[in-house]
Amino acid sequence: MTALRPPQRVAIVEVAPRDGFQSIRDPLPTADKQRCIEALLDAGVTRLEIGSFVSPRAIPQMADTGELVAAFAERPGVRLSALVPNLKGAELALAHGIREVVYVVSVSESHNRSNVRRTPEESLGDLARVIERLQQSEGTRLRLDLGTSFDCPFEGTIAWQQVDRVLGKALERIGDLPTEVALCDTTGRATPYQVADHFTRLRERHARPGLEWAFHGHDTYGMGVANALFAIHHGATAVDTACAGLGGCPFAPGATGNTATEDLLYALQGGGVDTGIDLPRLLLAADRIAALPGGQTASHLRQVPRERVG
Ligand code: COA
Ligand code: ZN
Repeated sequence: MTALRPPQRVAIVEVAPRDGFQSIRDPLPTADKQRCIEALLDAGVTRLEIGSFVSPRAIPQMADTGELVAAFAERPGVRLSALVPNLKGAELALAHGIREVVYVVSVSESHNRSNVRRTPEESLGDLARVIERLQQSEGTRLRLDLGTSFDCPFEGTIAWQQVDRVLGKALERIGDLPTEVALCDTTGRATPYQVADHFTRLRERHARPGLEWAFHGHDTYGMGVANALFAIHHGATAVDTACAGLGGCPFAPGATGNTATEDLLYALQGGGVDTGIDLPRLLLAADRIAALPGGQTASHLRQVPRERVG
């Protein structure tokens, strides 16, 4: 038997500025967000979900996303993305200079309704219009976030066949647009074997050139790092994490923050996997994020004495 070989490289997508900052009840001052983002970039983060273009009534915490994009869009070597729930969001994102649009649709109807107030079918209809719009702009990419790909806060366990149906319909619309599909564990209730199973089956059915796979996980049940590793070993080339484990979803009761970037980084570094991120500097960014008023954080590595890290 041969030992499991780690991949050479994994892309970490830092989502604290979106999934994390949106969980803090009182919207943060833009300058505070900017300082945290600077610290993340200083640590070597190159992919960043910087915010979302959503109804400011639904998520007032994200109302300054355009300003943040303006502040960071020109940074060399940084790939910014922003989440959108509809065509209007995609148009706003493109107008502000975003080249990678994260379109979100949940597999389960009840979560999609509570999150974006329509059925998955309706979201998929709008996805077709978003794709048309992206195809008109040179150099744009789509990230498709399939929410509740493993578990729904209202409907419980989600079977891979349910994900398959939504993904199949989405891919019919996507055609040859460069796309990364993220299977999202919105609640953090997925287990590593379920993650492996969904990635294996869905990649078998839908793999094609130009299509990449990602995993977005929360650490509610302490499975975050294990789930991410199983996703990586079953085809994910990118993983969403939030520095300091900041976050939670206002539409997924009981969900805690994303898996802490530093916790996953520690695991990957142990296998010699290159992410481009410097762990001690990332911990400085995590300290800054953890000091934000009103935020909930969850990170193992921040609890360990610094001289014991690395
Ligand atoms: N960006 C900014 N404003 C938007 C918008 C967007 N993407 N989409 C709609 N709006 C505005 C509309 O212009 C309208 O404004 P008005 O009342 O001043 O005319 C208002 O929001 C309501 O629009 P409507 O189309 O009726 O939307 P809705 O009230 O049914 O809400 C969403 C639907 C999708 C806009 C809203 O639920 C939303 O933004 N959800 C985001 C959820 C989220 O980010 N969850 C976490 C990530 S998974
Ligand atoms: Zn999330």
